[in-house]
Amino acid sequence: MQLLDGTSCSQQIRQEIAEQVEQLKASGKRAPHLAAVLVGHDGASQNYVGMKARDCDEVGFNSTVIRMEESVSEQELLDKIAELNADDEIDGFIVQLPLPDHMDEDKVILAIDPRKDVDGFCPENVGNMSLGLPTFLSATPNGIMELFRRYNIETEGKHCVVLGRSNIVGTPMAILLSRNTNPGNATVTIAHSRTKNLKELCASADILIVAIGKTEFVTADMVKEGAVVIDVGQTRVPDSSKKSGFRNVGDVDFDNVKDKCSYLTYVTGGVGPMTRASLLQNTLKAYQRR
Ligand code: GUN
Repeated sequence: MQLLDGTSCSQQIRQEIAEQVEQLKASGKRAPHLAAVLVGHDGASQNYVGMKARDCDEVGFNSTVIRMEESVSEQELLDKIAELNADDEIDGFIVQLPLPDHMDEDKVILAIDPRKDVDGFCPENVGNMSLGLPTFLSATPNGIMELFRRYNIETEGKHCVVLGRSNIVGTPMAILLSRNTNPGNATVTIAHSRTKNLKELCASADILIVAIGKTEFVTADMVKEGAVVIDVGQTRVPDSSKKSGFRNVGDVDFDNVKDKCSYLTYVTGGVGPMTRASLLQNTLKAYQRR
């Protein structure tokens, strides 16, 4: 089994972006600017947003984190989004999900100007992706496509099972892999909580992409010998032996699955860093378009 190293792959991407930013600055242009809106105090979200800001520093982007209290009204968040849409200094921004229960995530995403939607979540960008038109590709699926590209993993004609149908991972992942592109051209099945014979279906996959948010859900008997397995899941589980008091657990039972795979990602240093690298790629694209 070869571990797919998202840390080193994303480092390569950041290096490529940093070189382009260097050139922009050398020619007297300003740096790209990414903003992130963080509502509330969810530990994982705070961590992700912090890492995104550090990534910006590393490649020479400007970044702004806008923190709002958990109790903020939906209207106040929509007003902030309108401000960011109109702000000429900001090339792209994200609203970190999940949002507090009193907010309608769809309504919030619809308020983002598609030209600044570097998460690629707006209907216009999802539509463009489906049609194969230039757009901001959803960060996690695009990060996974980059892993396939950079490790020369063949996807053409392969049976790919995507476990999970969320708007931000499962659904766009299935679309990207089934398009007539390289990587792509896979035969894709989207599986979810109502799928029958899930075990057998997963065991028939050449490529298994798991994004269901259930810890260690995929066990060795669900994996075909030689399969490529991508674990998108990351759940914080209490662990008193850690200084932080928790550890991250993936959707795949890594220890038992690893000997059956040709390629596998680990819960840390796998998909996460690639998602963040995609966000930087999209921000550079947003800057170049303006
Ligand atoms: N929450 C988990 N993943 C993501 C992501 O890619 N973008 C945003 N905005 N929120 C998330």
